[in-house]
Amino acid sequence: MNKHPIIVLISGNGSNLQAIMDKCENVRIQCVISDQFDAYGLQRAMDAGLDAVWIGQAPGTSRDTYSDELASFISYFNPKLVVLAGFMKILSPRFFQSLPNTKIINIHPSLLPKYKGLNTHERVLEARDEEHGMTIHHVTPELDSGPIIWQSSFFIQPDDTVKSLEEKVHKREHQWYPWVIDQVVRGNI
Ligand code: GRF
Repeated sequence: MNKHPIIVLISGNGSNLQAIMDKCENVRIQCVISDQFDAYGLQRAMDAGLDAVWIGQAPGTSRDTYSDELASFISYFNPKLVVLAGFMKILSPRFFQSLPNTKIINIHPSLLPKYKGLNTHERVLEARDEEHGMTIHHVTPELDSGPIIWQSSFFIQPDDTVKSLEEKVHKREHQWYPWVIDQVVRGNI
């Protein structure tokens, strides 16, 4: 089957990257890019024989400048899809203007539109919510606000902690992100 070229952006551990590398059937990862030089995900990529690159934001440079540099590097590959997998930088609108024909998707550890931003598991517990989960969505310039593609939820148990919620969310992320990515590149989403 024809493999579609994608770029994966990470900042840390890269467990979602690992799931993508292990489970996606329809993609060819052209490059893994991290904004953090010590992201373990870069090691995972190199262990899998993939090109792995650190593109950090130089001190004193603006978000616009960083977004321009990143978009310029990515456009060289002309990917079908850019996958954000734990990428922690907020990209400026210019990033999207520079890649007008490229789909960009993200995974977020909450049931959006609830709990945009950080510390989602803590906030869910503080609010005594009944449900929690993860969201895969298209990326737009506004943080964690693009059209939702897929959500997976579960009921919170009385003995759940931040750690147990994180594990339950990760399990669903690793199950669904590779599947959604395959569907997006095949044009089914
Ligand atoms: C995931 O929970 C994802 O939803 C969020 O950041 C975390 C990344 O984890 N955006 P990993 O680096 O893939 O292990």
